[in-house]
Amino acid sequence: MKFFIDTANLDEIREVHSLGVLDGVTTNPSLVAKENISFHDRLREITDLVAGSVSAEVIATDAPGMIEDGLELAKIAPNITIKVPMTPDGLKAVKVFSEKNIKTNVTLIFSANQALLAARAGASYVSPFLGRLDDIGHNGLDLISTISQIFDIHGIDTEIIAASIRHPIHITEAATRGAHIATVPYKTILQLFNHPLTDQGIEKFLADWSNRTK
Ligand code: E4P
Repeated sequence: MKFFIDTANLDEIREVHSLGVLDGVTTNPSLVAKENISFHDRLREITDLVAGSVSAEVIATDAPGMIEDGLELAKIAPNITIKVPMTPDGLKAVKVFSEKNIKTNVTLIFSANQALLAARAGASYVSPFLGRLDDIGHNGLDLISTISQIFDIHGIDTEIIAASIRHPIHITEAATRGAHIATVPYKTILQLFNHPLTDQGIEKFLADWSNRTK
C-alpha cells in the first residue's frame, strides 16, 4: 500500500517527502481554505516537489462547471489528478476526463455501489471515507474490504484510496483489507513511527555505548 499525504500545507509535504515514503498528495477545499493561499499557486509548488499523483478538487457542482474547473487544474502539471464528488454530474465529468486521459479521484465515497459506479465511469481512484463512516456508527474498514473484493472479482483496475484516516490502526487495517493507497494527515504519519520499545532500545544502546570500557 502506498502513502499519500492529505494536506495542502507545503512544510508538511516537504517533511514527509524527505522521509522517502511519499507517493502522492490529496487536497480538498477545506484543507486549502486553512492555508490562506492561491490554490493554483500552491498546486504548482506541490507538483514541483512531488512526482506522484496530486489530487485537486473541483468546486463547481454541475458537470460543465466541473469539466471547466478540471481542465484548468489539469494544465498546472501532468501529475494533477482531478478530484470530483460522487454525484451524477461528477461521474459525467469523470467520463469526459477519462476520455482525455486525465486522471480522476472520485471523492466522498460511502458505499460499495458508489465505488462501483465511479469505477465504471472511468475513475482512476475512488476515495472511501473511513473516519466519517465510523463517526456515524458504521464500519469504514468493512467498506474497504467490500470494494476491494468487488474490484478483484470483476478485474477493475481503479485504485482504492483509504481516506478520512484518523489513527494508525486505520492504516494497518486498510492495508490488510486491500486499499492500494492511504491518504493520511501529517500528524498520523508521524504517529506511525512511534513505539516505546524503539525508544527504549535506542536509550539502552546509547547507555551501553557510553558505559563501554574500551
Ligand atoms: C481525502 O481525499 C479527503 O478529502 C480527506 O481524507 C477527508 O478527511 P476528513 O474526513 O478527516 O476531513
